[in-house]
Amino acid sequence: MNKIRLSGSTLNISPIVLGMWHVNTIEQNQFEKLVESGLESGITTFDHADIYGGYTCEGIFGKWFKNSSVKREDIQLVSKCGIKLISENRPDHTAKQYDTSKAHIIDSVNRSLKSLNTDYLDLLLIHRPNPLIKPREVGEAFDELKVAGKVKHFGVSNFTPSQFSYIKNDCGVPLITNQIEISAFASEVMFDGTLDYFQKHKLSLMAWSPLGGGTHIKSIVENELVKTLAKKYELSIGDLLLCWLQNHPAPIVPVIGTMNPDRVKSATKTLGIAMDSADWFQLLEITRGREIA
Ligand SMILES: NC(=O)c1ccc[n+]([C@@H]2O[C@H](COP(=O)([O-])OP(=O)(O)OC[C@H]3O[C@@H](n4cnc5c(N)ncnc54)[C@H](OP(=O)(O)O)[C@@H]3O)[C@@H](O)[C@H]2O)c1
Repeated sequence: MNKIRLSGSTLNISPIVLGMWHVNTIEQNQFEKLVESGLESGITTFDHADIYGGYTCEGIFGKWFKNSSVKREDIQLVSKCGIKLISENRPDHTAKQYDTSKAHIIDSVNRSLKSLNTDYLDLLLIHRPNPLIKPREVGEAFDELKVAGKVKHFGVSNFTPSQFSYIKNDCGVPLITNQIEISAFASEVMFDGTLDYFQKHKLSLMAWSPLGGGTHIKSIVENELVKTLAKKYELSIGDLLLCWLQNHPAPIVPVIGTMNPDRVKSATKTLGIAMDSADWFQLLEITRGREIA
């Protein structure tokens, strides 16, 4: 499977990324099957965050990675920082808050590296825009992590174009992606200027919850037109939604969240399938529940 070069940088990731948000909900042997089914299908990039599973998910991956024969250079590890949760695993946290201070970013990365059993991250993202952010301080943390070889590339998540532009201009190191919610169920970013901004600046996006988090699918599985389209493209309904996303001209890399190894495998079938624009718009109308204007 061909890799995607993120925003013209030297970071090459798989065109579908496997999200690790819910890996604390499955047994370790199921986790191994999940990751291995990804690797067998060419999915080599794993999306983490320090906070997933109340600070436990990175450790689940790290335990698997330590005992696996997979070489570090054959996978890409993404993680995020900047949110502090109240958790028994972080007894020093006194309130839920965002923290993008230099000290917190560096401390968070050090902990992620330890949990993941690795000595570097391929990509570090600031998890959410922080109203109290000081871009120069973020830049200093990023510089220090880059010089120390602990993080190779940097980006953000859930930033609006203006938040992205503000921090990009002030923080120094190149920001190579914004990971945001995009799906047929969350398509506003295709209409409100968000995607256009990233397309204009030739920046790749990562799409979280590309199936809308799974809860919305139930509302369309019995739709006759959806069933017809799934049959036409020889895809499951979940994969039809992934295919829909990948047919947007912006460089969007979906971060899938299934814990089902068979769904991980089948997701890669969607790559390179061209969807007719009439089908694309019909699917959009169904997921939006209203006609396009
Ligand atoms: N940056 C951020 O702020 C942020 C926020 C949220 C998530 N993320 C990242 O994005 C990843 C994906 O998020 P997500 O889990 O919300 O993604 P998603 O892929 O949209 O949703 C996954 C859910 O959909 C279900 N599902 C998949 N196919 C289905 C089908 N055909 N029918 C019914 N249900 C189906 C899955 O159930 P099964 O497990 O049973 O297949 C799972 O519960 C996360 O793991 C995380 O890495 C990032």
